[in-house]
Amino acid sequence: MIGRNDPCWCGSEKKFKKCHFPLEENRSKSLKDKYLKQYKIRIKSPEEIQGIREASRLASSILDKTCQMAKKGVTTLELNNFAHELHLQAGAIPAPLHYGKPPYPKSICTSLNEVICHGFPDETPLKEGDILNIDVTAYYKGFYGDCSRMVLIGEVDEPKARVVDVSYEALMRAIAILKPGIPISLIGETIESYAHSKNCSVVYQFVGHGVGCAFHENPQIPHCRNKSGILLVPGMTFTIEPMINAGVSDAVIDPFNKWTARTKDGAPSAQWEHTLLITEEGYEILTTWERSL
Ligand code: MF3
Ligand code: CO
Ligand code: CO
Repeated sequence: MIGRNDPCWCGSEKKFKKCHFPLEENRSKSLKDKYLKQYKIRIKSPEEIQGIREASRLASSILDKTCQMAKKGVTTLELNNFAHELHLQAGAIPAPLHYGKPPYPKSICTSLNEVICHGFPDETPLKEGDILNIDVTAYYKGFYGDCSRMVLIGEVDEPKARVVDVSYEALMRAIAILKPGIPISLIGETIESYAHSKNCSVVYQFVGHGVGCAFHENPQIPHCRNKSGILLVPGMTFTIEPMINAGVSDAVIDPFNKWTARTKDGAPSAQWEHTLLITEEGYEILTTWERSL
């Protein structure tokens, strides 16, 4: 192999390192090392990105199909079992099942009305006026894709419609600013300033997260104002998943199941989630669901 100080292969008689040395590759390798050492953030290779893209596409397709099943009278456990089967049919594993401590007992999260996140699917039938978040994370061929959407059951009242719309708009506004070089703190700034302008609060106890090679990786992505100076770089993959409340921002964890988070004041909460990739030009939304469905 040609060394840094050998004459360049091109015949210029300059040293290789001063001539055709592959600088780009070198720079991106040292950035990758720096992010891993300094922040424990894994910058993904093109092969990993393709794997995460496929897992994200599958998670979105399972999410869309499960949302279409969510109608008045259907129980959240039926939605769980339907989504579980779709994972298996595709050769995937539902990542939430047995995840964490205590082990999460179901294959998806179903969070109704005042439930902020991590609602357990159960025998509760959906009823007129409910808002429901369905969260699907698929583990497929070694990679993770994570996404969630809201479903409205019939006519919903004003505070519920507001949190559903504000959380969606907050997510899309935060995505729109993504590009290499911006600090992570700008994401939370964008979400919180928008939510407050619409008379809503932002949950601070749960964050978006790096995702792809593991279910939850660094960095954390706060949805409220914060001081994270970490700069986005191409090859980062993470979620944004703002939880927006109609009342106070505080979440209370269920003392019995140790997972389910509800609003402290019982007011409604809503959430939407995408898995994103930072590219040279800006971003790519890897989870392909669309709100109009
Ligand atoms: N899918 C959720 C997220 O967006 C995490 C669910 S934790 C689990 O990060 F245990 F329920 F899977
Ligand atoms: Co997530
Ligand atoms: Co999720």
